[in-house]
Amino acid sequence: MSFQTEIAKRRTFGIISHPDAGKTTLTEKLLLFGGAIQEAGAVKNNKIKKAATSDFMEIERQRGISVATSVLAFIYRDKKINILDTPGHKDFAEDTFRTLTAVDSVIVVIDVAKGVEEQTEKLVEVCRMRKIPMIVFINKLDREGKDAFDLLDEVEQKLGLSVTPLSFPIGMGYDFKGIYNIYERNINLFSGNSKKNIEDTIAFDDITNPQLEKIIGEKAALELRDNLELVSGVYTAFDRELYLNGSQQPVFFGSALNNFGVRELLDCFIDIAPPPKTKMAEEREVKANETDFSGFVFKIHANMDPKHRDRLAFVKIVSGTFERNKPYLHVRHGKKLKFSSPNAFFAEKKEIVDISYPGDIVGLHDTGNFKIGDTLTAGEELNYKGIPSFSPEHFRYINNADPMKAKQLYKGIDQLMDEGVAQLFTLELNGRKVIGTVGALQYEVIQYRLEHEYGAKCTYENFPVYKACWVEAKENNEEFKEFKRIKQKFLAKDKRGQLVFLADSAFSLQMTQQKYPSVKLHFTSEFG
Ligand code: G4P
Repeated sequence: MSFQTEIAKRRTFGIISHPDAGKTTLTEKLLLFGGAIQEAGAVKNNKIKKAATSDFMEIERQRGISVATSVLAFIYRDKKINILDTPGHKDFAEDTFRTLTAVDSVIVVIDVAKGVEEQTEKLVEVCRMRKIPMIVFINKLDREGKDAFDLLDEVEQKLGLSVTPLSFPIGMGYDFKGIYNIYERNINLFSGNSKKNIEDTIAFDDITNPQLEKIIGEKAALELRDNLELVSGVYTAFDRELYLNGSQQPVFFGSALNNFGVRELLDCFIDIAPPPKTKMAEEREVKANETDFSGFVFKIHANMDPKHRDRLAFVKIVSGTFERNKPYLHVRHGKKLKFSSPNAFFAEKKEIVDISYPGDIVGLHDTGNFKIGDTLTAGEELNYKGIPSFSPEHFRYINNADPMKAKQLYKGIDQLMDEGVAQLFTLELNGRKVIGTVGALQYEVIQYRLEHEYGAKCTYENFPVYKACWVEAKENNEEFKEFKRIKQKFLAKDKRGQLVFLADSAFSLQMTQQKYPSVKLHFTSEFG
């Protein structure tokens, strides 16, 4: 198969949702269609539990599982589909944000009864800013939920999207009769049985056909016709270009648990979703079909076995082919590295692979060379951008609790930060180290891993910070000099050496912004 064909057949995407909307169930049903798993439950059993836990072994077990489900690949109708796992737990939101830099499109799952929830809002905002093509799947139609039009309004308003339904429900909850597939022009009747024959659809080109009454009853037929009229009156017709540039989001309805509406979603997805895209590097735009390999690290996972400190770096291939045992340039280190056992991922296993194509993810064994955001190329000096840090929610000083193990502690902190477990800030005033995290759970993970993987002990001390803001200013500007002098106590460097202002309250942040208007304060490390 030619290189071009290999690229064209790849679809690399992520499923995002608020916990409990049905992401795991939908993933599992998609894998079933691909024949990648034999029975329902296989992914589910591996699911990262949502409840916060202080059981360390539990954290470890779940970390291991998240390696297994990091990338799920399968073939469906000649397309190679790579699903990148995005943890729903909000303490791991940063992980999800980073994974979103490696997807070419996204499916957003929304619970028909709960509507748009907090986590969905945050994740969709990131996708919208990056103009990632999105398809919305409204789930749990077998249950009583919100009116379809109200829900579509809510999606548009709360998520700032511009939707166009490609299917429409016939009834809901107790009265749920099925779905009219606007994209394929057919009706799929609901039987509430997950073993339902997936061929069981009725072609229905002309919705005015009196047959409709016979199939779904008079009342439902009337309602469906009215609804479809409203759909075509209110929403702009589907336009693939608009979808691809992030200006329009098609919507599907269904019930993942009952495997209903999932095939329709998948069939449309592989038709319209984009193959691997052109990506911006700091130096230039890189096209997927360029012959020279390039890719970037978007996730690093520590080995489950504490005796082996090697890690798995997940690399998204942007251009060219990645081949086993070929030397590639690690751009930040300026040295060439060879990989004798790159992993490719399938639904339930990983395997050593000789060649991978744009859109694919390879897992590389790493002994501490990589950090998140690193670029690998065939030789060109390229740096992919776009893996930002966001202001953490929690901040604590980290102290060494075993003076004999200072070296181990610093090495451990360094490596865990490279993995993206949390963010490290070093205070300008006294060099003290502050760890910033998205959720409190990370502090336990860090403490546990420092002890078990590095033999180091730490304690924490509260450090009240409202927000970390990345500072942008002209070096010799008088105002900036004064800002640095007055705010010295609140200034720190992040791991990349960028200056950060740690505001202790919303009020002090506001006052600082007013007093030093030429000093720009950003809530993410990606600006300019
Ligand atoms: P998540 O990954 O987004 O967190 O959601 P997950 O798939 O785990 O689904 C959350 C709950 O919603 C599960 O129930 C799941 O069975 C249920 N669910 C998913 N899709 C549908 C659907 O189409 N209809 C209905 N009625 N329920 C659905 P649970 O009780 O939390 O778990 P379980 O005991 O069923 O495993």
